[in-house]
Amino acid sequence: IDELLAEGVEGKRVFVRADLNVPLADGTITDDGRIRAVLPTVTKLADAGAKVIVASHLGRPKGAPDPQFSLLPAAERLGELLGKPVAFAQDTVGPAAHDAVDGLEAGQVAVIENLRFNAGETSKDDTERGEFADQLAALADVYVGDGFGAVHRKHASVFDLPARLPHYAGFLIATEVGVLKKLTEDVKRPYVVALGGAKVSDKLAVIDQLLGKADRLLIGGGMAYTFLKAQGHEVGISLLQEDQVPKVKEYIKRAEESGVELVLPVDVLVSTEFPDLKTKAPANPTTVAADAIPADQEGLDIGPETRKLYASKLADAGTVFWNGPMGVFEHPDYAEGTKAIAQALLDSPAFTVVGGGDSAAAVRTLGFDENAFGHISTGGGASLEYLEGKTLPGLAALEN
Ligand code: 3PG
Repeated sequence: IDELLAEGVEGKRVFVRADLNVPLADGTITDDGRIRAVLPTVTKLADAGAKVIVASHLGRPKGAPDPQFSLLPAAERLGELLGKPVAFAQDTVGPAAHDAVDGLEAGQVAVIENLRFNAGETSKDDTERGEFADQLAALADVYVGDGFGAVHRKHASVFDLPARLPHYAGFLIATEVGVLKKLTEDVKRPYVVALGGAKVSDKLAVIDQLLGKADRLLIGGGMAYTFLKAQGHEVGISLLQEDQVPKVKEYIKRAEESGVELVLPVDVLVSTEFPDLKTKAPANPTTVAADAIPADQEGLDIGPETRKLYASKLADAGTVFWNGPMGVFEHPDYAEGTKAIAQALLDSPAFTVVGGGDSAAAVRTLGFDENAFGHISTGGGASLEYLEGKTLPGLAALEN
């Protein structure tokens, strides 16, 4: 983008593909981190006199307009953060979008409606995606890719559109890639990775990769129960991906053979029912040993001994990558595990990277100062796939 700014953007229509896929509760944004993350790019372009068109997906609508996934709340928040009005087009490539763009003066900003309201955005068919990309290209003169959270998607606005316009990487993508690259090159050891979140199936490829790179792997969240099961323990009614047990057994064996320290919970907080995240009514969990989860109970957070254990495993780290909450942090009774990891990261002198929409949101909503962490990635799947060593369509398209 520095190159683009040096060339000059005065009066040019610049399409910024952002990732404004923010969490919403009853239409209210609960964490605006991804909107703030794109501000440097939008501000610099606008200050340089560009006509800035900001585009993004939000949620997973089914290729047609769906009001619950409108980008309007994100556009409003962007305007508040920029401190100036932002035009909003109620369609993506139709007359409203063209009117909004035609109405822009140099230095002004417009947001177009959710890209995924168009089937062409996510289509597996190259022609269909290409046609939608052509329509998007008609709105702009230049493309800036800055939606790091979506670079792992081979979608029209991420992959096909940059091929149709002069294209540049925005500040966010440049920063994210710079930091994640460090984790794949010479990391300061011990390199400790804390992985949580619900599904082990989402993390298999990254675990595979990390078994050859990390010194220690701490496992928490819903995925821990598949590990406990693979070790031969009963997990009651906890989240379990039975079909992944053989794979996880193989990883446990590989960790032993390769000298990677694989650390699993020693105790967990359990309850007979999932907590009410709306009312946040007291859940009154009990603490049990991880190898003694009663048949009618569900594990919902790591327990106090595990919190201490994981903190001690993070204390002497040289580098830490953390992805995925340790429990149902959205409920105060199950937030302590996730808080303990966040605190341990802050207490450690290590270079710390927090990746993943959920862990990043957890850090902010649990009241931590995000600036105290080395880097909080805006990418969930994107940062994992980067660490897996995959070619990411959105980055490849910008390099071409
Ligand atoms: C994310 O939240 O990880 C990105 O915005 C990508 O969203 P998606 O998983 O719906 O493609």
